[in-house]
Amino acid sequence: MKKRILITGGTGYIGSHTAVELIEAGYEIMIVDNLANSKIEVLAQIEAITGKKPVFGQLDICNFNEFNAFFTENQPIDAVIHFAAYKAVGESVENPLKYYHNNLQGLINLLRIMQKRAVQNLVFSSSCTVYGQPDELPVSENAPLVPANSPYGNTKQIAEDIIRDTVSASAVQAISLRYFNPIGAHKSALIGELPLGTPNNLVPFITQTAIGLRRELSVFGNDYNTPDGTAIRDYIHVVDLAKAHVVACKRILQKENQSGYEYFNLGTGKGSSVMEVIQSFERVSGQKLNYKVVARREGDIEQVWADTKLANQVLGWKTQKSLDEAMLSAWNWEKQCLKNQKQTT
Ligand code: NAD
Ligand code: UFG
Repeated sequence: MKKRILITGGTGYIGSHTAVELIEAGYEIMIVDNLANSKIEVLAQIEAITGKKPVFGQLDICNFNEFNAFFTENQPIDAVIHFAAYKAVGESVENPLKYYHNNLQGLINLLRIMQKRAVQNLVFSSSCTVYGQPDELPVSENAPLVPANSPYGNTKQIAEDIIRDTVSASAVQAISLRYFNPIGAHKSALIGELPLGTPNNLVPFITQTAIGLRRELSVFGNDYNTPDGTAIRDYIHVVDLAKAHVVACKRILQKENQSGYEYFNLGTGKGSSVMEVIQSFERVSGQKLNYKVVARREGDIEQVWADTKLANQVLGWKTQKSLDEAMLSAWNWEKQCLKNQKQTT
């Protein structure tokens, strides 16, 4: 019998790519999402890529009764991958309670229901934001966690604590995956990132500028202590990231985990500066990007990239796609979005 995986937030950016990889790896999947930051059309796109339409529950995971009813109607559930959360750092500073409520109440409901239904396996979306600006690079999973610099970041730290305590007190087993910077889209250009309004993140801002939706990219600071002065991040292709979830699910389902709660960094192990990302975009798209250097963005760290030894050796996973491949897929996705928009207007 195929193992059945519930994906919360599965019509979102990372969730939809993970849904595709899980189906292709032979899992049966179910999705719950309230479409707060995604569109219902994503389900049809998942079907177009894989030939399978996932079971879907449109519900808010903060509503315990509705979420619980979904579990009742869709037994058995062998594992849960928990993506559903709000993720806009700036908005979380302006409206912290919205973030604490959604990101933590949703998780608490999930863990309560998992305990009630004896669902033991959880994979959780965490973030490298838990490390802040690390003293040592690349940053490993043992690096000290620093106080988060946004309520969003804090929800990830608190969520990791809630999961740790639940694992010690129950039969739940969990793997937290700490993502570095996910970018790019599926090669079909049928799914990708759909930022609402003006994007905060670098890559969607680049592609929207190149396609004419934005006038120019602001490069936030070129006076950092880095080789070209711009800030450095570890950009990981979303399909590589999605594949890591398949590996993590298999590990926890087959009880290969070495402790009840494991943490893994998911990155490429290589840092790229903002200027290097722009150059990669220009190389693969053949377009010149309109940009100007402005002041640093408040709250940004200077540089971070992942120590990937643990994920490479213990999970047996490593990234396969380059920055250029990721930028090309992001560009193809942006062009596809424009085509779709023209067809609907
Ligand atoms: P996303 O916004 O595209 O996907 C999240 C999905 O969750 C959306 O479809 C949204 O509608 C849904 N959702 C939110 N609250 C919900 C609720 N209460 N009930 C039901 N559905 C709800 O975001 P993403 O980029 O795919 O991120 C997925 C996860 O990964 C999030 O937990 C995010 O914090 C984490 N993460 C993302 C990044 C990144 O840069 N994208 C980096 C690190 C960690
Ligand atoms: N940047 C610009 N111009 C822009 C947007 C970004 O120069 O218009 C720069 C930023 O200053 C930073 C780099 O590009 O140096 C990357 O910025 P992003 O906003 O794309 O990503 P961050 O590293 O700031 O944060 C992202 C997610 C967070 C998550 C974090 C770690 O937005 O939610 O990665 O996973 F916590």
